Amino acid sequence: MELDEAINGRTSVRYFKDESIPRDTLLELIKAAIWAPTASGLENWRFIVFESPEPVGKLYELIAEGMMEYYRAVNLPADKMEKLKTRMYEEGMYRAPAYVAVFIDRNVRFLKGREYDELELLWSIESAAMAIQNLMLKAVELGLGTVYIGVTNFRGIDEEVRKLAGLKESYYLAGVIPVGYPRADPTPRKRRRSAEDVTEFL
Ligand SMILES: Cc1cc2nc3c(=O)[nH]c(=O)nc-3n(C[C@H](O)[C@H](O)[C@H](O)COP(=O)(O)O)c2cc1C
Repeated sequence: MELDEAINGRTSVRYFKDESIPRDTLLELIKAAIWAPTASGLENWRFIVFESPEPVGKLYELIAEGMMEYYRAVNLPADKMEKLKTRMYEEGMYRAPAYVAVFIDRNVRFLKGREYDELELLWSIESAAMAIQNLMLKAVELGLGTVYIGVTNFRGIDEEVRKLAGLKESYYLAGVIPVGYPRADPTPRKRRRSAEDVTEFL
């Protein structure tokens, strides 16, 4: 697949077929992910692939909790909240055969001083985000859909995800990526602002 085809063909997919993904295919996604740049060459990321029914079900509940908190935080009216619940619990929004939870280990760092705590964390999260983008583009090539879930980072929910992943406290959640075969042909969302609008040449 041409790079442009993958870049322009990627869009957030939130509805998936009830079809499992072979382990080799899931591993191909991670192989693409780890070719991303990583600050100071640390590679302090950890990819936890949820694919068994029980942990998948528990993670789904945490995503649902996060989405509810998100909508409460933006004061979504009650009827819209009900619609979201219908989409999730009856139509299966975000229900995927696999989820990749991406963490970074805060204990593995290059600059050791406390004054660098924040910068090291940012660099690690940025590195994880680049890995996630690689994973998402590879997914397009493999006919898979993905969406970045950030709402699992609400306080308390992130801890639950970490515990579910069986990781110690030094692991910080960068994001959760549902992965599956799209239920409908993905239609990329248009951008509101052009490249010219957001660019300045000096
Ligand atoms: C850091 C980050 C967090 C996101 N969190 C969520 C989320 O929690 N739930 C969700 O449905 N989409 C989430 N998204 C997806 C965005 O809503 C989506 O990328 C955006 O609307 C642009 O659409 P596109 O991905 O189809 O181009 C997130 C995206 C990013 C980059």
